[in-house]
Amino acid sequence: MKENFKISDDLKQKLKSHGILEGISETIVTSGRKIPNAAPIGIILKYDRLFIRLFSGSKTYENLSKEDYFAANITNDALLFVKSAFSDIADSEFDYVSSKNITEIKTECEDYFQIPVISKSDSFVIFKCMNRTYSSNLMFIDIKPIYFKINNNAQINFVNRGFNSVIDATVHLTRYKITHDLKYIDLIRYHQGIIQRCGRPEDKEALLFLKKKKVEFSLENSNAAELLKKS
Ligand SMILES: Cc1cc2nc3c(=O)[nH]c(=O)nc-3n(C[C@H](O)[C@H](O)[C@H](O)COP(=O)(O)O)c2cc1C
Repeated sequence: MKENFKISDDLKQKLKSHGILEGISETIVTSGRKIPNAAPIGIILKYDRLFIRLFSGSKTYENLSKEDYFAANITNDALLFVKSAFSDIADSEFDYVSSKNITEIKTECEDYFQIPVISKSDSFVIFKCMNRTYSSNLMFIDIKPIYFKINNNAQINFVNRGFNSVIDATVHLTRYKITHDLKYIDLIRYHQGIIQRCGRPEDKEALLFLKKKKVEFSLENSNAAELLKKS
């Protein structure tokens, strides 16, 4: 078990200035020393505990079972959220931070390695995995921030129901992909309406991608064929 650390008010403030707030912050987690991978994952800051909760079966779960470092990238790029959820992002979307540049790693590891990040994120935070605990199909990892970077100072917080619905619809589609439960198709349909009405052009582009994926996953599930015709 690695040492625990205290989440001070200063640290909370620093996390906040990089886009990670109390509650669950939806980020794109990049991991994998050999093959970079990106996936939307919530960073949870609750009751002075900072952790992630990973469902088994994903690449991120596999990587972070055996590797200790990853980045949480902050972005409001709707297409990036949707594509990374289904592992469709291009190599050119990644950038790398060398472990040489991170004091905390330098003092612990002799070997240098690269940590993938998303090149056009607004900011990112690199975390170290501390304690791992398991419960049925979940792994909980306590995490410690060890490196912070802001790429885009002009970031302005915004509220757009279309973007929020892209995020929700993507969550539902990742669940549908695993369970094939048709209740998720209904939920996605609800969010499609909001994206059409309130979304930015990029949210509508993300919706097109999402719809294609929905067809792909539904074709794997013959029961959904009827429902799809209606959506
Ligand atoms: C906004 C959003 C947040 C998500 N948060 C989590 C999470 O905290 N834990 C998790 O295991 N999956 C989460 N997911 C689902 C994963 O992103 C999804 O299973 C993905 O396909 C995993 O990709 P990978 O196999 O490349 O790791 C989330 C999905 C979305 C869209």
